[in-house]
Amino acid sequence: MTGQHPAHQPPQRVGVVAESLPGETRVAATPSTVRLLLGLGYEVVVEPGAGAASGFGDDAYAEAGAGTGEAWTADVVLKVNAPTAEEIAGLRAGTTLVALLSPAQRPEVLEALAARAVTALALDAVPRISRAQSMDVLSSMANIAGYRAVIEAAHVFGRFFTGQVTAAGKVPPAKVLVAGAGVAGLAAIGAASSLGAIVRATDPRPEVADQVRSLGGEYLAVDVAQEESTDGYARATSADYDRAAAELYHEQARDVDVVVTTALIPGRPAPRLLTAADVAAMRPGSVVVDMAAAQGGNVEGTVAGRSVVTDNGVTIIGYTDLAARLPAQASQLFGTNLVNLLRLLTPGKDGRLVLDFDDVVQRAVTVVRAGAVTWPPPPVAVSADPPVPAPAAPSAAPVKTGPRLTAAGRSGLVGLAMAATFLVVAFAPAQLAENFTVFALAVVIGYYVIGKVHHSLHTPLMSVTNAISGIVVIGALVQIGHESALVTVLSFVAILLTSVNIFGGFAVTRRMLSMFSKGGSR
Ligand code: NAI
Repeated sequence: MTGQHPAHQPPQRVGVVAESLPGETRVAATPSTVRLLLGLGYEVVVEPGAGAASGFGDDAYAEAGAGTGEAWTADVVLKVNAPTAEEIAGLRAGTTLVALLSPAQRPEVLEALAARAVTALALDAVPRISRAQSMDVLSSMANIAGYRAVIEAAHVFGRFFTGQVTAAGKVPPAKVLVAGAGVAGLAAIGAASSLGAIVRATDPRPEVADQVRSLGGEYLAVDVAQEESTDGYARATSADYDRAAAELYHEQARDVDVVVTTALIPGRPAPRLLTAADVAAMRPGSVVVDMAAAQGGNVEGTVAGRSVVTDNGVTIIGYTDLAARLPAQASQLFGTNLVNLLRLLTPGKDGRLVLDFDDVVQRAVTVVRAGAVTWPPPPVAVSADPPVPAPAAPSAAPVKTGPRLTAAGRSGLVGLAMAATFLVVAFAPAQLAENFTVFALAVVIGYYVIGKVHHSLHTPLMSVTNAISGIVVIGALVQIGHESALVTVLSFVAILLTSVNIFGGFAVTRRMLSMFSKGGSR
């Protein structure tokens, strides 16, 4: 039931139904998200056993305030996967169904839903814009799946991920390559580096390099210019790019122990990244997790839904239910995304769902409206990342995995700098030479000190440096008793400003450092 309504109408009933897809462990609402749905004014009914596979019993839902019983006849039906033909046949006309519907891949589901005169909202059609992030089920599931991909790999890999020096010998850290640094890839990078592995990652979108580094990974660039993303998703890569990337993958396959592939271009089959020859080049015992298995796979030899071992002893994991392997967490995030969507659709918080087609998010998710198919929506063009300036002359050089300057070039530069310094010191007045020496020493010491601090701590380092720069307050203190009134006033202002710097700098540093310490801000 959608559209404008008089304020006195009774609240609608939200039904949380059980999943019928074999192997599905998730549920569309947990007891804690049921409380939030009740807070929006809805009545909630949960199908008996709906949360059992996620560890949420019927009594937990009842305790949260939900009824137990027939959920398919509710006004708003919440579900994880698309309903089967039989389930669609059981929907009431006028019902609003909210689920993952794969509208682009499964037009027959939309037709069947339209024939039942229902309204269908596809959770997998939420646009990638900042405002809709809290409803983006695909991202929250990909985040869980990326983490789980690393856990699956670690389980199969017969060694530590972290390096260790023990009495029984030295253990080298595992090397992990993550291909595709989107949501799932970044989660995989974070998980693998927190387990202590050496992590490398590549992606055609150069703007992800900083995110890769901030999670402890090394970004491997493929130096071929790419078309920029306008909707937060990647464009298809060029033949030049693919050629250069193939070299990178072949080189890396021989070196790394674990590869996690997550490359996705919406609306297309998964790009092929690793060939059978690349897998054959990997060491026995290595593991590949192909997260794109359901879309045809990024790796030659992947079998969707299964784990296979190649002739040279490499395990290729093609599980398509990685998020569902952490059911309680996945249901919680899924349920929260759903609540956020319903919050948008319940402006009066009165348990009445209202669809506003002028809102891009609501328009995008509505794939069937009161019996009419409304997919596809008009395109939403937004950039999820700041635009990156195009390189002046796109280089055809295949792969860049290190700094551009050669060792000889670096030595030449250092030599030049030394000669220039000598000239300055030899011919400048004595006072300038002295100041210059202090400056040069400060540069060298600063370079090495900052270089040793992890890049994620650079911001707190800047704020503490800001605080320390307040040392100039000493100069102002010495001058404050000066006989000139002007100097005294200036000293007073200087003391005031440097005090702000000192106290503010230390306060900000403390706050930031507490974000890094376990247990959060204190
Ligand atoms: P995303 O769109 O956030 O990330 C995909 C990344 O692949 C983008 O950063 C893109 O730039 C990159 N990419 C595109 N072409 C590439 C190429 N040729 N080489 C390297 N990188 C390339 O997508 P998200 O949400 O991270 O999902 C990643 C994959 O994981 C998808 O295929 C998705 O269906 C899958 N997935 C699998 C699950 C499972 O259980 N197996 C669960 C959840 C997601």
